[in-house]
Amino acid sequence: MVEGTPVVLANVNGDIFALEDECSHEEYPLSDGELEGEDLVCIYHGARFECATGRNKSLPAIRPVKSFAVQIQNDEIYIDLS
Ligand code: FES
Repeated sequence: MVEGTPVVLANVNGDIFALEDECSHEEYPLSDGELEGEDLVCIYHGARFECATGRNKSLPAIRPVKSFAVQIQNDEIYIDLS
């Protein structure tokens, strides 16, 4: 949770991405899902999202999830929610 917004972080080959932690299919947390390559797969019904952009890549999701810019400074992760 970042300032009231649920956020899930994904480490894809050392690159850190931040997505809103709510599937666009139904209101379940993507943080329960699994990382498969460059994608985060929702454990509930199998929708797939690109970690770098939040783009939906498979049904049943028909909309993307929000993605947030990430900066890492001095081993701390900063997320831009705007
Ligand atoms: S809640 Fe994520 S695929 Fe249905």
